[in-house]
Amino acid sequence: MHILAVQGSLRAGSNNRRLLKVVLDHLPVGVTAELYELHNIPLYDGDIEAKGLPDAVVEFRNKIHHANGILIATPEYNYSIAGVLKNALDWASRPPQQPFAGKPVGIVSTSSGIYGGVRGQSHLRQVLQYLEAIAMPKPELIVPQGQAKFDEAGKLIDEKTLKSLENFVPAFVKWVERLTG
Ligand code: FNR
Repeated sequence: MHILAVQGSLRAGSNNRRLLKVVLDHLPVGVTAELYELHNIPLYDGDIEAKGLPDAVVEFRNKIHHANGILIATPEYNYSIAGVLKNALDWASRPPQQPFAGKPVGIVSTSSGIYGGVRGQSHLRQVLQYLEAIAMPKPELIVPQGQAKFDEAGKLIDEKTLKSLENFVPAFVKWVERLTG
């Protein structure tokens, strides 16, 4: 099984990247994963698309195609997902061979607020629905006040989050297995 882990925040000190890395560290033996950053994805522009998909977009779409499951980490910006993530999903959504169709997806989020990005997660589920991706409904991995949950080296220092993560990861692996056979 191969997982593509899409990191929805660009900044170097992102707590979502820290969360995503800890999730990947907990994947069982035999499951491979790639952490994918969105820095190279250009802004969606129908005129650029009409001339041919940019290389970074082709690469992103190919990686989605070839992964058995996708994990997405997103910060919550103004009650929604990060613009860079929405932009990448917009590129991915274009025909032909829309790569998210039928793809199992797991969602994780952390934010500095007390709701951990839950409203952003809801928006992401709505976008994924249109893409015909199959987002795992439960268990959810939502980490409030992410700035207090990791040390400078990115190590998870919160027992409650660890428990939540230990619940999430096997469920996600099963979700991917169930949907991909
Ligand atoms: C935020 N943040 C935020 N947090 C939240 O819980 N709900 C929100 O609606 C918002 N809105 C928001 C908008 C913008 C433009 C920024 C920059 C930030 C705070 C946000 O959750 C926090 O900065 C996270 O740490 C961002 O994720 P990364 O970069 O640490 O992964």
